[in-house]
Amino acid sequence: MKLVVVGTGYVGLITGACFAEFGYETVCVDKDKSRIDKLKNAKCPFFEPGIDGLLNKHLNDTKLLSFTPSIAEAVEDANVVFITVGTPTKRLENDADLSAVWDVAVELSKHIKDYCVVVTKSTVPVGTTTKLKKIISKKLDLNKFDVVSNPEFLREGSAINDFMRPDRIVLGTESKKSENIMRELYRPLNLIETPIVSTSIETSEVIKYASNSFLATKIGFINQIADLCEKVGANVQDVAKAMGIDKRIGSKFLHAGPGFGGSCFPKDVKAFVNTAYKHDLDFSILDAVMKSNEVRPTNIAQKIIKLKNFKQGNTIALLGLSFKPNTNDVRDSTSIKIAKEFIKKGIKIQTYDPQGMKSAKSILKELILCNSAYEACRSANCVIIATEWNEFRALDLNKIKEKLKDLVIFDLRNIYNPSELEQIGFEYYGVGK
Ligand code: UGA
Repeated sequence: MKLVVVGTGYVGLITGACFAEFGYETVCVDKDKSRIDKLKNAKCPFFEPGIDGLLNKHLNDTKLLSFTPSIAEAVEDANVVFITVGTPTKRLENDADLSAVWDVAVELSKHIKDYCVVVTKSTVPVGTTTKLKKIISKKLDLNKFDVVSNPEFLREGSAINDFMRPDRIVLGTESKKSENIMRELYRPLNLIETPIVSTSIETSEVIKYASNSFLATKIGFINQIADLCEKVGANVQDVAKAMGIDKRIGSKFLHAGPGFGGSCFPKDVKAFVNTAYKHDLDFSILDAVMKSNEVRPTNIAQKIIKLKNFKQGNTIALLGLSFKPNTNDVRDSTSIKIAKEFIKKGIKIQTYDPQGMKSAKSILKELILCNSAYEACRSANCVIIATEWNEFRALDLNKIKEKLKDLVIFDLRNIYNPSELEQIGFEYYGVGK
């Protein structure tokens, strides 16, 4: 089988590299020529553990992976084309911007020659895959292609493992022929008995949004429980632990913190709420999740400012800028939102992140970048841990103590034990405890 992946963003590149790892000849396409030139030299445009090795291996050794800016060239003899272009939130609206998907559809309709399965893998609102079919069929005979919805569930930072060992594969199809091709494609996962859920196209599209929205709801829920815990003297980590032991609830995604960020949850929750509105439904649960998450970073920053009476001229050491560990992605990062609030008040932010500094600086030029967590703490009035990178989990606290002006720590990811820090002399604040 020859595969084509259109769009070399996060999902596209991981999908392409991992399918090559499964042994398929895979061509990745992107209209951004400079991106393609870099990829041809195995230069990945983002940080993701393991991706550089896969790119190198399949570009240079197996030669199963190739890159081109031309859809026409790539799809000529393709069996399956994955659409993995971006679907960002539209400016001034909560809807997903699907213009990139429609552009690809028009191109495919002109260049597909023999029967081909066209798959939406980007997160797309329900109805998109069917509309895609309509657009392609304006130029291409219906017996020359089928459309399929096959949403991706990988997480940044553990994307390759998530792709190689998924909890499930979802296939939204409308013909047995395309379903069989897709099942054949995922045959390498039979060995680890990955469940395949076969559904209609609409159901598959809803599954992706419902999954992300549910996970976001879990986080939003535990964050509000954390606020309550702080008021009543309870400990949210113990609450989450005990809740999570109940198999009906589950322990994952119950870590209280500064709110969810990244390129997926905020965008997808908004788009899902919008889909409901379009159908005259009131999605009040998700509306509340979205709103509570939007104000959370600002509220946290204001709480810190009030608690320690921080003002112009004070310095804060901010550890972590990426929206989560193991990525350089700072899109919708709560850490940056918190930093903005401090900067507005004239407070200096000395910061360090293992991967996200360059992109963070391009968004917030006032950030003072440092070479290490310790350097960021120099003469600061407190340290805030905003992203739970491994290297922040076992900091040399005595060294931090030497650097800080005031021994105050805000551990927004609850990675430290308060009593240990208090013993060394720190004033410790976690989330919900
Ligand atoms: C998320 C989903 O987890 C993936 O399954 C999905 O494929 C992906 O979106 C997508 O739609 O492409 P991702 O955004 O990479 O993946 O990151 P997550 O690990 O889900 O974290 C999202 C945010 O929630 C982060 O800001 C993280 O810090 C926060 N979070 C997560 C919490 O605050 N508490 C938790 O318990 C878990």
